[in-house]
Amino acid sequence: MRVDLKTQILPASAAAVAEAARRLAAGGLVAFPTETVYGLGADAAQASAVAKVYEAKERPSFNPLIAHVVDLAAARPIARFDATALKLAEAFWPGPLTLVLPKTSQCPVAELATAGLDTVAIRVPAHPVAKALLRAFGGAVVAPSANLSGHVSPTLAAHVAGDLAGRVDLILDGGAVKVGVESTILGCFEEPMLLRPGGLPREEIERVLGCPLRRLPEDAAGKDDRPLAPGMLASHYAPRTPVRLNATDVAPDEALLAFGPATVNGGHAAKAAMNLSEGGDLTEAAANLFGYLRALDAKLARAIAVMPVPQHGLGEAINDRLRRAAIGR
Ligand code: TXA
Ligand code: MG
Repeated sequence: MRVDLKTQILPASAAAVAEAARRLAAGGLVAFPTETVYGLGADAAQASAVAKVYEAKERPSFNPLIAHVVDLAAARPIARFDATALKLAEAFWPGPLTLVLPKTSQCPVAELATAGLDTVAIRVPAHPVAKALLRAFGGAVVAPSANLSGHVSPTLAAHVAGDLAGRVDLILDGGAVKVGVESTILGCFEEPMLLRPGGLPREEIERVLGCPLRRLPEDAAGKDDRPLAPGMLASHYAPRTPVRLNATDVAPDEALLAFGPATVNGGHAAKAAMNLSEGGDLTEAAANLFGYLRALDAKLARAIAVMPVPQHGLGEAINDRLRRAAIGR
């Protein structure tokens, strides 16, 4: 375990971005903001740097990473794009969509980062700091969410520091992220398949594809040796406090995670309460989700009671993360 590094936290100025690019080139770890969540970056081409990512996160090494690149042109040498993949990349990049594609024969991404699969996950982030870093660095950067494995993803630089201080060289502070849940992951197989709901709602993808999108069956994930999306392992996004879903009431020793204008029985007497979006706005709720789970987790309540969240739009990703949080670790 790495506990020996001195972690710098710098506001994401041009000078700090240039320093971050140098650290990546030297095989170091740099945490940086994307529009979805903060990522823990390493040079995708250096296996030793990729190994440090797994080590810092205490992540099981069978779980492959997403390669981040600055644009579609930079993705072409890494993966093979068929017509559907091109259409999706052109429609949604830069943005919160990750495509899982067949590797090219010259794929520069280290085997360790793809966990020996013959596919690679690629994404072009939209955040100005992520873009500046990728441009300055000039290559692909693998970046899982910048949290310890099993913890809630970070939406602020302070969350990253809480989990990874002493384990990463540099944290670029770009303020609060916009989207708040991880990217949507789409497998571009014979038939495109939703591997992880996320920051790009399925409806937008279906509009471009012109047909409904199949979702990887919950129980297909993580079962065999080479799972399609091992990150879909059930207990991925868990706070320490037990999470109770679809709450219609809340006890005085519980914390309440509310959604929408109405409250539940006992809502005013709860140990703590936060509302994902009083106006019932799913975009606002996604942005608040992980930060509020962290804040309520810190209240040491008996449980976090969560009010129902509708399933459409970003609700699919929010409910997915909440279900995983409720399963616990
Ligand atoms: O929004 C995001 O996607 C963030 C930011 C930092 O970009 N990153 C992120 O990475 O969420 P991570 O490592 O926490 O999740 C990546 C997911 C995992 O579930 C992993 O199993 C899946 O992508 N994945 C990576 N490569 C894959 C592949 N070749 N086939 C299937 N799934 C893959
Ligand atoms: Mg993660």
